[in-house]
Amino acid sequence: MSVVIWSDGALREPTDPLVTGVDHGLTVGDGVFETCAVYEGQAFALTRHLRRLRRSALGLGLGEPDLDEVRAAVDKVLAVAGDAGRLRITLTGGPGPLGSHRFDPEEQRQTLVVLAGPATRAQVSRVVRVPWVRNERSAVAGLKTTSYAENVVALAEAYRQGADEAVLANTVGALCEGTGSNVFVERGGELVTPPLSSGCLAGITRELLLEWGAADGLPVREAEPEELPYDVLDEVVAGDAHLLLSGSIRNIAPTVRVDAVDVAAGPLSLAAQRLFQEHVGRDLDP
Ligand SMILES: Cc1ncc(COP(=O)(O)O)c(C=O)c1O
Repeated sequence: MSVVIWSDGALREPTDPLVTGVDHGLTVGDGVFETCAVYEGQAFALTRHLRRLRRSALGLGLGEPDLDEVRAAVDKVLAVAGDAGRLRITLTGGPGPLGSHRFDPEEQRQTLVVLAGPATRAQVSRVVRVPWVRNERSAVAGLKTTSYAENVVALAEAYRQGADEAVLANTVGALCEGTGSNVFVERGGELVTPPLSSGCLAGITRELLLEWGAADGLPVREAEPEELPYDVLDEVVAGDAHLLLSGSIRNIAPTVRVDAVDVAAGPLSLAAQRLFQEHVGRDLDP
């Protein structure tokens, strides 16, 4: 399928010009976004994604987004993109100055673009370690902004090495997250994920696995602040621990390679993957 696009009140052709060259999202990455999986023409966990979109917009200082408009746009797009696998919502500061400052809020009109397109899903993940870090003290830590250039560079390095994700430390050497995923380490009979204070995104998939795991008796929890150093990946390489990634398109994907080393998917990781799929099958807006 091709991409279905909604912008400024209507569906558009992929070749239509949509956004002005002075849009602050384009000039300085002043925007926020969400990506949801789409199953049977319905966006998965849309309510949680819209809640996070609002949190990101307010955190960035963009002002209150019109979530009714977003929902209406999502409905229009999905009505004609029944076989889509993913939905992307982008909200930017709109036309603005050429520098990083903004016009007064009443002078700036946000830009909203909603897209649906195909998705490829892999059951497993292959990761690399990279020398770049997530800044847990960044002004935008934890916000899902469109300033993703650091992720683009790190993911390009992963692809160069034949992997599909790069896993990052933060500035104090703690395990943080992937470029577009959260991480869980399986060791000592439990799955443990870095806390939000590590600077990782509050992933919806991560959040659901924590909730569903707790409800269904799967041992899964957030780590204590210094419990998961980046070096824990050495244990994964040595076979003393396992890794899994979570994210909206990949869902739960146990890791089968770290750098150049093949590693085994952990039994709890595989159980988490099954548990997640069962819950998705039961409720598309948990
Ligand atoms: C940096 C980052 N971390 C984690 C995630 C996973 O979040 P979610 O499960 O909400 O997709 C994403 C999603 O794209 C991301 O961009």
